[in-house]
Amino acid sequence: MDANQTPAPAGWLQGDVALITGGGSGLGLALVERFLLEGAKVGVLERSHEKVDALRARFGDDVVATQGDVRSYEDNSRAVAETVNRFGKLDIFIGNAAIWDHGASLMSLTPEQLANGFDELFPVNVKGYLLGAKAAAPELIKSEGSMIFTLSNSAFYPGGGGPLYTASKHAAVGLIRELAYELAPKVRVNGVGPCGMASDLRGPASLGQENMRIMDSRSPEAIASILPLQFFPQAADFTGPFVLLASRANNRTLSGVLLNADAGLAIRGIRHTAGGLNL
Ligand SMILES: NC(=O)c1ccc[n+]([C@@H]2O[C@H](COP(=O)([O-])OP(=O)(O)OC[C@H]3O[C@@H](n4cnc5c(N)ncnc54)[C@H](O)[C@@H]3O)[C@@H](O)[C@H]2O)c1
Repeated sequence: MDANQTPAPAGWLQGDVALITGGGSGLGLALVERFLLEGAKVGVLERSHEKVDALRARFGDDVVATQGDVRSYEDNSRAVAETVNRFGKLDIFIGNAAIWDHGASLMSLTPEQLANGFDELFPVNVKGYLLGAKAAAPELIKSEGSMIFTLSNSAFYPGGGGPLYTASKHAAVGLIRELAYELAPKVRVNGVGPCGMASDLRGPASLGQENMRIMDSRSPEAIASILPLQFFPQAADFTGPFVLLASRANNRTLSGVLLNADAGLAIRGIRHTAGGLNL
């Protein structure tokens, strides 16, 4: 480097190691990209074989991608072990993998669909976060690191999903509060609640939604129109709050905190132009 050149500023996560579930697409992939830029090494737990192959091909040695399912404790534990074996420690666990319900309402579902949809969605969105936390906690206690869970506007307001998804994201809020309480003073535990974005987000097979992506049932205009800031965010637009919460230098004080990264919904909640029972 030239003596007069200013060195590039160090990233906020220089030397840190993160494990991100569902890092194969959408927000998880944007987090992989951003955490690498901030100087971290990254592990990913991802169910899709194709996405795991793509991560390996694209990122090489900077990312360790474990193929597995967040519903399995063994798979979560293997992802922690593979990340720690490669990079020596774990500083940040991000529970992120989830599925949506495409807004399927109570009255639109049969009792069987409701029961089966619950049994399919809650194990990913809630049990997956719990088992990931259990697998990562010993390493995070050692490193005095942090956990961050991806929430949603549906963790705070109705109308961003149906009862299955909205209840699952509210459950994740309870998980964050309880774990922040139990793991203090060693581990900070926080959540980030994004609003709608284009991603590969799908729904339960029991509702016939396994191949339905979020943008199949929503348009950018429809998403922008319910947001007070009136724009359609990209996945990368949500990564800043995760970096802030993960950074030891910039976050010594936030734990048990939920950041609403939803383009201003707290101003007035979700107002659909049409909604409610249409009998
Ligand atoms: N897309 C949105 O509009 C939106 C809005 C608010 C919150 N979120 C949240 O963002 C997070 C990421 O979702 P996304 O929108 O990026 O969707 P996405 O489908 O692009 O990413 C989720 C990833 O998780 C993986 N995955 C799904 N089930 C898994 C399992 N059982 N085990 C391991 N991996 C699994 C998928 O293969 C996928 O790669 C989720 O928590 C979601 O609830 C999304």
